Amino acid sequence: MPERAWNTFLEGDNLDVLARLEAGSVDLVYADPPYNTGNDFAYADSFRDSAHADAATGRHAAWAAMMRPRLHAVRRVLAPHGAVFVSIDDNEAAHLRLLMDEVLGEAGFLAQVVVNLNPKGRQLGRGFATSHEYVLVYARDPKRCVLDASTHDTVDEDDFPHVDDGGRRFRHLPLRNTNKKFNPVTSPTLHYSLHGDPASGQVATAPFPGSVEVLPVFGDGRPAVWRWSPPLVEQRPDDLVCRTIRGRTGERVDVFQRDWLHRDGGRRKKLRTIWLAEEIGSTDTAVAELKELVGHVFESPKPTGLVRRILATMPDDVTVLDPFAGSGTTGHAVALANAADGGSRHCISVNCAEPTREGSNARNAGLLTVADITRARLRAVADRVGGGLSLG
Ligand SMILES: C[S@@+](CC[C@H](N)C(=O)[O-])C[C@H]1O[C@@H](n2cnc3c(N)ncnc32)[C@H](O)[C@@H]1O
Repeated sequence: MPERAWNTFLEGDNLDVLARLEAGSVDLVYADPPYNTGNDFAYADSFRDSAHADAATGRHAAWAAMMRPRLHAVRRVLAPHGAVFVSIDDNEAAHLRLLMDEVLGEAGFLAQVVVNLNPKGRQLGRGFATSHEYVLVYARDPKRCVLDASTHDTVDEDDFPHVDDGGRRFRHLPLRNTNKKFNPVTSPTLHYSLHGDPASGQVATAPFPGSVEVLPVFGDGRPAVWRWSPPLVEQRPDDLVCRTIRGRTGERVDVFQRDWLHRDGGRRKKLRTIWLAEEIGSTDTAVAELKELVGHVFESPKPTGLVRRILATMPDDVTVLDPFAGSGTTGHAVALANAADGGSRHCISVNCAEPTREGSNARNAGLLTVADITRARLRAVADRVGGGLSLG
């Protein structure tokens, strides 16, 4: 077992539990609060018959009143370099965005990610077959945040269609700068002649037998600039190739960079703000993952793939907090990530002793509260994946 267990579970109302955690002691928060769908969140009595005549206003106000102090508590425990991810759907997405602007500051907003957790789309009821929800991402302090919004796992091998004699995959990238902001007026030193032979592929800064002069041009024939300076071309001639291509203005000779696929994890790709079920799993995947470990005992778990993608944006020794742990997906994802990459992440999961429904699978399995479900899964994770479980 590692020195510090990978997982800790704390039972209780997260407002009370978070108050006991040290300020600034958490690097990453993933929160998946009740979405206010009408049956997942108990209204505070004061809102039920209060001055809020409009039921919808009262519903949102009650939810915001539940969330506001909890987001303040999250902000308090977050380290200055930390980040917070919150799952939400259309019921409260707009209100949560404003609430997070209020508590964490608008400047801390990093992204509103669309998460395609129900690829078939919701078939119940009228209207659209909604197939996505959201994850809002905020930095505790955008200037100090260590979040790196990139990943190894979205690099697609098929994007590197060529293979060299040694079996290394690569793709051709135009050596000319395709960004129109860079042109001979803005970057005059990068507008120069190269010399290449499209038959052999060879490229040089000076003419050689069989070479033709190549100037950088945009697709429409207007003058462009190269991305590499002449000294860089001289240093890395083998990473360049001269080819004849068919462009908008007919055939022309151009120079390309051989861009290699690095399987050692050196290459990272910027994360897009739409995360597809085929990349991160779906609610169905999540139910299957939970079923495998403890049974079908929770209705709306998240797939571990979603949380693992979130973990991949932060260093591998972070302390993670999930204040609405439910079935314990975050703790499971942390253990899987540590087992896969040798990291030393630590996850603190919190859930209250909300009773499970009479007659539900959980209740029939002897799990009387949601906290019992969280514990059962985290115990199973410690057995199967490792890393131990500490019960606070
Ligand atoms: C949407 S579920 C989280 C599901 C979880 N992400 C998963 O993958 O299983 C929200 C959870 O928050 C818990 N919860 C609601 N209010 C809470 C509170 N004030 N303190 C602690 N847990 C709470 C509920 O019991 C429920 O399990």
